[in-house]
Amino acid sequence: MNAFPKTAKTLPFPTTPSIRISHLGVRYRSVEALRDTNLTIAPGRMTGIIGPNGAGKSTLIKGMLGLIPAESGVVTYEGKPLMDCLDRVAYVPQRSQIDWTFPATVWDVVMMGRVRKTGWFRRFSGVSRRIAAEALDRVGMGDYRDRRIGALSGGQQQRVFLARSLAQQAEIFCFDEPFVGVDQKTEQVLFEIFRELAEEGKIVLVVNHDLGDSITHFDDLILLNREVIASGDRPSVLKTENMYRAYGGQVNFFSAAA
Ligand SMILES: Nc1ncnc2c1ncn2[C@@H]1O[C@H](COP(=O)(O)OP(=O)(O)OP(=O)(O)O)[C@@H](O)[C@H]1O
Ligand SMILES: [Mg+2]
Repeated sequence: MNAFPKTAKTLPFPTTPSIRISHLGVRYRSVEALRDTNLTIAPGRMTGIIGPNGAGKSTLIKGMLGLIPAESGVVTYEGKPLMDCLDRVAYVPQRSQIDWTFPATVWDVVMMGRVRKTGWFRRFSGVSRRIAAEALDRVGMGDYRDRRIGALSGGQQQRVFLARSLAQQAEIFCFDEPFVGVDQKTEQVLFEIFRELAEEGKIVLVVNHDLGDSITHFDDLILLNREVIASGDRPSVLKTENMYRAYGGQVNFFSAAA
């Protein structure tokens, strides 16, 4: 008798909880934004995406999630196309891409995280309300639930978006430059929660512009400049030759961060 179910032998991709990106390429008309990108993003690790302006950091996240069309490549999660698992993904875009005049309250934004679990036309359950309230408390924004999202500071907005992704109970968290314009206290809260998520075995992927001390929070890094210059654990990526290839002479890289 065969001990394995037939389907196990016939799956087209390996079933691991990592995200696997194979030969991803993205082009915006004449601009080749990302070339032949091959990466594995592991759960349980905090992974940072770094690289200069225009390096393709945002494009990598959007292309990976299928939010913009890819020219080539395959992205899988647990052996399935990642695009088919978007209910397990929480994504917070770069600030400049969010419409802050949108007339929603803090509570509305966090409850949006529950829509996929509840459905647009069904009433939110008590469970959903409790999960949303807990998420707001966890980011220290419990007292702001009736405020308009546009009337908050940048750091408060980031906390609310983090609360929304917590309420979503996702497995994959993608944040594009969450630390821009936030104060130190908020940065600390965000990093603490990212770490907790990683320790829970989630995939945590964060675009981080700052090459200063904050980079030491990351376990793994992906260094981009239109293609992957280096990826892997932080010290191996932050080697001078890699940084020079990505940034040229533009950056004086700090030091202790590696
Ligand atoms: N919608 C678009 N149409 C045309 N070109 C685009 C578009 N979005 C991005 N690009 C180009 O693709 C390249 C990569 O852009 P991307 O936004 O991914 O860079 P980034 O690394 O996130 O930069 P930043 O640090 O400024 O956020 C850039 O040259 C950019 O000008
Ligand atoms: Mg960007």
